[in-house]
Amino acid sequence: MLKIERNKELAPFTTLRIGAAAEFFAVLKSRSDLEAAIIWAKEHRKKIWILGGGSNVLISQEVRGLVLKNEIKGSEIVERNDDYALVEAKSGEIWTKFVNFTVQHGLYGLENLFLIYGTVGAAPVQNIGAYGVELKDVFYHLKAIDLKTGHEKIFSARDCRFAYRDSIFKHQLRGRYFIYSVTVKLKRQPDFKLDYGSIREELLKRNIKEPRLRDIVKVIEEIRNAKLPNPALSPNAGSFFKNVEISRAKSEALLKRYPDLPHFSASGGKVKIPAGWLIEKAGFRGKRIGPVGMHDKQALVLVNYDGASAKQVLAFIKKVKAAVKKKFALDLEEEVNIL
Ligand code: EPU
Repeated sequence: MLKIERNKELAPFTTLRIGAAAEFFAVLKSRSDLEAAIIWAKEHRKKIWILGGGSNVLISQEVRGLVLKNEIKGSEIVERNDDYALVEAKSGEIWTKFVNFTVQHGLYGLENLFLIYGTVGAAPVQNIGAYGVELKDVFYHLKAIDLKTGHEKIFSARDCRFAYRDSIFKHQLRGRYFIYSVTVKLKRQPDFKLDYGSIREELLKRNIKEPRLRDIVKVIEEIRNAKLPNPALSPNAGSFFKNVEISRAKSEALLKRYPDLPHFSASGGKVKIPAGWLIEKAGFRGKRIGPVGMHDKQALVLVNYDGASAKQVLAFIKKVKAAVKKKFALDLEEEVNIL
């Protein structure tokens, strides 16, 4: 039975530990809970908001409507042949548990995405990525429920219009669908992506020449732990901003002024500049104002050090953006959704 609560404080359900009240709130454990919630919202004319792991959101004011905390879980192999397996996970499953499930079954493709916060359902919305792999590289399809009609629809990768930290679910279809499950197509033979950052170097350090899946997972875990704050101790939402994509001409002009500017080629002939570098050079790495600051080991991660309010965070990011704009004439764009 679906239990609907009133005036529920949302901060404990976010990794930044910042929130406000939801007018109405319910936890979903099953598809029938979801169906009941859709009917309830229609009857009461309330807008539905979906909360997964709360790891990519800054709730800055009361949420009017019905907030659904998605805890519909489970992963299973739905098809398998000699070359690949299709694995489907329900959207409320914890992303890292899903990655563990695939690793335990000896399937290749998700290992670089180990330890990304959040749930399976949030992964396609922003096409999560890390260490040279994005969800779109292994995505097969997803099942989504239309929040207006309750009908199920299957979305292929093409339908999702994946791009860097982006999909159709952030634009035309924002708020329209409940992502119910995600299916990935994984290889049964090793096919590692080791070129990003220090993965290869870390393997060499350990004298590992022919890595196994669990070696990669271990290395990713260590690289992340060395750089990223632990959300249980230092509430944060991962990268707060997106890396910046600029034209080649603009990057060449910047490189003349800053020869050490890190840059990577991106799709459409664009050049990607790490926002962490820009923030660091603008003087904000490890800088705190009151209870908010940018992490000292990865300047792209904003940390709530001591009970910050949404207002304090918003004032702080305004300063970060202004400093980057002043120094580089570039605009930072939030990766975190601000509600
Ligand atoms: N850098 C600095 N100073 C910093 C941080 C970064 O100079 O304080 C520069 C360095 O040159 C470094 C480069 O930025 O080599 C890239 O840094 P890093 O490898 O840490 O990755 P990122 O581009 O900052 C992205 C994702 C992360 C993902 C990592 C690893 C985005 C917005 N972020 O960060 O994703 O874990 O790559 O693949 O694309 C997230 O989305 O929440 C997230 C954590």
